[in-house]
Amino acid sequence: MVVLGIETTCDETAAAVVHRPDEGPGKILSNVVLSQVNEHAAFGGVVPEIAARAHVEALDRIIARAMLDAGKSYAELDAVAAAAGPGLIGGVIVGLTTAKAIALVSGKPLIAVNHLEAHALTARLTDGTPFPYCLFLASGGHTQIVAVLGVGNYTIIGTTMDDAIGEAFDKTAKLLGLGYPGGPQVEQEALRGNPLRFNLPRPMHGRPEADFSLSGLKTALRLEAEAVAPLTDQDVADLCASFQHAVTDTVMDRLRTGLKLFREAYGAPTALVAAGGVAANQAIRKVLHRVAFETGTVLVAPPPALCTDNGAMIAWAGAERLAHGLTDSLDTAPRARWPLEQVTGPRLPQPASLRPQA
Ligand code: KG4
Ligand code: ZN
Repeated sequence: MVVLGIETTCDETAAAVVHRPDEGPGKILSNVVLSQVNEHAAFGGVVPEIAARAHVEALDRIIARAMLDAGKSYAELDAVAAAAGPGLIGGVIVGLTTAKAIALVSGKPLIAVNHLEAHALTARLTDGTPFPYCLFLASGGHTQIVAVLGVGNYTIIGTTMDDAIGEAFDKTAKLLGLGYPGGPQVEQEALRGNPLRFNLPRPMHGRPEADFSLSGLKTALRLEAEAVAPLTDQDVADLCASFQHAVTDTVMDRLRTGLKLFREAYGAPTALVAAGGVAANQAIRKVLHRVAFETGTVLVAPPPALCTDNGAMIAWAGAERLAHGLTDSLDTAPRARWPLEQVTGPRLPQPASLRPQA
């Protein structure tokens, strides 16, 4: 089945066409992503009103480009999917309304995709990973360890008590004058820094539940930076390296705990899966490899371009839902907030013993 996917929940205007075979990984027929980085850079973060306007201006031609690259007409689509949340509501409205218009005119079903579910299912697009697997989702807005048990069937094993990891990277970059977006810049600076120079805390380390906390680390970093100010280039690199080291240590400890809790509840996962923009970070990927290896699990880490926001993941999640007959009505509302565990899936068949006897 062939699905068009539209993504406008944050600062990427994206559309893609993906083919889902009956079994195994999918095929990306086109994947067009327009980043709004330049529009927001001067403000040091995403400005919701600017983002929504930029989506309005760009979306029609991004979709046209995706259809052209895929060599498909609207008549050849099986469905139109859009991220219906969670995200910045102005952008979500733009993408979802556009998808509704295309669905209405072409007579195709609409699928209102949860953006987090799309991140969660990307490993099946790239690698055909079977359920159940343990997902580490780390983006600008979310940091979660999730048991992915089936389409629309997610249990949160661990989550952040305060900041998301991507947010902590972004705030670190801002504090050190590195600009936006922060993650890639902090990673770049860390390459030439000394990770052992500043002794930063590892919040939640050793705790029996698999939750994260990042705000103490952020405060500690600010105090260290203030103590050595004015900062030289080497100070900035060393602060970035020490920060990234503390984050990778924390991720390693929390994931070990998360995987243990997963096994206790669901048995061995088929894989440890990485998703979200932070999974593009090479130091974090290294740690994920290490934890997977230690626990006898394989690591599935989609290429960085599919870890950050894109349309292919929305199209794929739409196709996965369509395969279960899960479509949405044209009056589906956009949602600024939409936790992953509230996403629903196919009705599971009742166990035989519970069926009424004939
Ligand atoms: O998933 P994503 O593209 O957007 C959402 O938040 O949904 O993730 C963006 C986040 C930002 O906070 C960005 O700084 C972070 O991912 N990020 C990184 C890297 N690339 C992106 N963080 C650390 N290292 C990176 N290389
Ligand atoms: Zn995202």
